[in-house]
Amino acid sequence: MPDVPARHDRILVLDYGSQFTQLIARRIREAKVYCEIHPPTRTLEWMREWDPQGIVLSGGPSSVYDHAGPGLAPGLTTMGVPVLGICYGMQLLARSEGGTVVPGKREYGRATLRVHCAADPTGGDGELFHGFRNDAAPDEVVVWCSHGDHVDEPPPGFDVLASTADLPVAAFRARDRPLYGVQFHPEVAHTPRGDEILANFLFRVCGCAADWTPGAFVAESVARIRDAVGGEQVVCGLSGGVDSSVAAALVHRAVGDQLTSVFVDTGLLRENERADLEALFRGRVGMRLLVVDAATEFLAALEGVADPEAKRKAVGEVFIRVFERVAREQCAGARFLVQGTIYPDVIESAPVHGPSAVIKSHHNVGGLPDDLAFELVEPVRELFKDEVREVGRALGLHEEFVRRHPFPGPGLAIRVLGPVSEDRLAVLRRADAIYMEEIRAAGVYDDIWQAFAVLLPVRTVGVMGDARTYENAVALRAVGSRDGMTADWYPFEPEFLARVSTRIINEVKGVNRVAYDISSKPPATIEWE
Ligand code: XMP
Repeated sequence: MPDVPARHDRILVLDYGSQFTQLIARRIREAKVYCEIHPPTRTLEWMREWDPQGIVLSGGPSSVYDHAGPGLAPGLTTMGVPVLGICYGMQLLARSEGGTVVPGKREYGRATLRVHCAADPTGGDGELFHGFRNDAAPDEVVVWCSHGDHVDEPPPGFDVLASTADLPVAAFRARDRPLYGVQFHPEVAHTPRGDEILANFLFRVCGCAADWTPGAFVAESVARIRDAVGGEQVVCGLSGGVDSSVAAALVHRAVGDQLTSVFVDTGLLRENERADLEALFRGRVGMRLLVVDAATEFLAALEGVADPEAKRKAVGEVFIRVFERVAREQCAGARFLVQGTIYPDVIESAPVHGPSAVIKSHHNVGGLPDDLAFELVEPVRELFKDEVREVGRALGLHEEFVRRHPFPGPGLAIRVLGPVSEDRLAVLRRADAIYMEEIRAAGVYDDIWQAFAVLLPVRTVGVMGDARTYENAVALRAVGSRDGMTADWYPFEPEFLARVSTRIINEVKGVNRVAYDISSKPPATIEWE
């Protein structure tokens, strides 16, 4: 049995609606402290039970003068837990403790911070700015602001820790309680020393231990999964993506052969995808893996279907039918289903969620029939994408696999534009493989969020040798992105594009033209369908 620490220190982030709330959580976790984002409506009793070492109040679009705006839970400032209010969070603290918040003057952009207390020899009220010097060069203390209201006078019993040219109270703290506020945003990259300020709060003020590591996460998850699953059978649908793969590997580490993973070969996969996945999971990880060849069923359902949403629906329906059949015939008696849900899915789909649990009861999962009810095991639902990758590494999945670009569930069906056929899939598969091979060879795979080829539903005129051709056109897409929500097209070197284009046109029969997609998201999307 692994050595499992009883519990990690944890920080509660209350989300007042700032676009940066997820960034706050990431920064805290990067400092190896566990945290969760929760709505500001959590009660004091709930918070006591959750038992955080510290609480961060995020920024938000509201004004403290807005009566409908979200407020502070009564009693939060006297419960004895350290609090850091950021922007709107600071204004809430100021207002509740009797300071003045003045509306108006929008400030957006960089400002230079003057730290007043850095040289305090007692370390007392300077904790938040520990390591900062009063005489620091201006460019060392650039901070980034985005606010309308600001604190003009600190509440009685509060000290001003820092100011800027426009902000008399850019940071404060209470003398008798561990309450801190900053008007700027320490969580954004534009505040270069923001990490230090957050670390001072986590370690000096809250006394957290930096022990939330991927290794510790694996050890704890394994213990929790064993405890929850007991001797029952578990089934997992492997998509080949990183999230479901890491979830499956984690459950496999916990319960071994009680887990059966099902990989449905939809016939809509990329070149070698199925073989690679089998080699990884059956070979290296040693997992019980059922590979179901369902290409014929998927292609039949897609025949003549050109509309992108209709294609997605068709693929989804066949997937459920196949998965259900395999679950009934070959995994009868499985009580649990593993899902690779990750934290952004949880936040996006249900902003008001309960304390994350590894297991939650769920029926009729993703359209499965009622009499095939499973309880869900979601072992990575607390993690961000890059943390899932770290856990994958800690589990020994090889580097190339954990770094893979995302791949959509409907697969190549939404990259063969218009009706899908086996022939058109084969053309796309080869063009895509050449493109990816060249991307890896150029050493830029990891700089790109996602890259792929698209087969266009047009034929274009060309000339090869002395003959006129009338053949397919392929579009290449590559984007940089943080999270897939927005994306910019990737600026390849012209020589790279020339090389890929030449190879595709020479090597892929039926293609006589290659285009590079230079649209960003928005207004385009990453996929073409
Ligand atoms: P879009 O095209 O909406 O894609 O900009 C954003 C990200 O989501 C992926 N994507 C999908 N993933 N099922 C999936 O599992 C889908 O139907 C689907 N559509 C898009 C896309 O590959 C990109 O990473």
